[in-house]
Amino acid sequence: MADKKIILTGDRPTGPLHLGHYLGSLENRVTLQDDYNQFILIADLQALTDNVDNPQKVHDNVLQVALDYLSVGIDPKKSTIFIQSMIPEIAELTIYYLNLVTVNRLRRNPTVKNEIQQKGFGENVSAGFLMYPVSQAADITVVKAELVPVGIDQLPMIEQTNEIVRAFNRTYKTDALVEAKPLLSKVSKLPGIDGKAKMSKSLGNAIYLSDSADLIAKKVMKMYTDPAHVHVQDPGRIEGNVVFAYLDIFDPDKEEVQKLKEQYQKGGLGDVVLKKRLITILNDFLTPIRKKRKELEQDPKYIMDVLFEGTFKTQEVAQKTIAQVKQAMKLIYK
Ligand code: TRP
Repeated sequence: MADKKIILTGDRPTGPLHLGHYLGSLENRVTLQDDYNQFILIADLQALTDNVDNPQKVHDNVLQVALDYLSVGIDPKKSTIFIQSMIPEIAELTIYYLNLVTVNRLRRNPTVKNEIQQKGFGENVSAGFLMYPVSQAADITVVKAELVPVGIDQLPMIEQTNEIVRAFNRTYKTDALVEAKPLLSKVSKLPGIDGKAKMSKSLGNAIYLSDSADLIAKKVMKMYTDPAHVHVQDPGRIEGNVVFAYLDIFDPDKEEVQKLKEQYQKGGLGDVVLKKRLITILNDFLTPIRKKRKELEQDPKYIMDVLFEGTFKTQEVAQKTIAQVKQAMKLIYK
């Protein structure tokens, strides 16, 4: 409704979504969609900034990400899901905003800096990649989002967005653009199955929402626990133990988890028993999501219709914003 606050979030379509995405954002979106006017963007253009050679992958994952959204309960009647590249106003705004940021400021953006290092771009980073935060500012401002639910790694993006908003409004003496506030998720980080601090597709340590029950069992059986816990009777460590990290989050019976922890630390509790428990719990959680996904996969046309409908709705909003922006920039000719 008109008086609901506008929020915008999104994902790069570079692969199916995993449990880290679920806890970091999907769960939040399902809750938020009742009380907010929620826009969710599938950032295909942003995905291309580091997948230049792989347009097919990006193309195919637009549908996969949309399937994940609907499978976890994001409701297209409540949330507006749209495709970034189909909103040309985002590209247009990006060009306008580029005059308001310096190359040095972009190089100093911690998230970008990290990614440049991780991906080994070095001095050869493309202009497109370096300026993706500007394009993200366009994503957020094109719908005039007031809130952006994100994980901690995205905070520098919101900061950068707000700098652009202030610079724009000041430079062009307008209040056309709106500053956005971050809304941080409760669970900040889910470890990967290998014990690394973060579950991520590029680290190859993820459990996907679309994984089969068999695959989940295999992944849990491989999970990092306590390398010093060799025999069942040995005392084991809880800290850094991925199985316990997951039980803490997903096991509904917190009292039982506490008992298991005590037993494990004393010795006499084997990893396999714990892993079997976790497999059951993860499957209880993921089976309905998987089932919904299987149903939706039968009808890709329906999914695309949802995306087009959301995109058309966003286009209307975007056209209004761009008209105000061009007016402020004296780009209207009569
Ligand atoms: N940068 C985000 C990611 O890598 C995706 C994204 C693009 C986004 N545009 C956005 C997130 C706008 C929030 C708001 O996951």
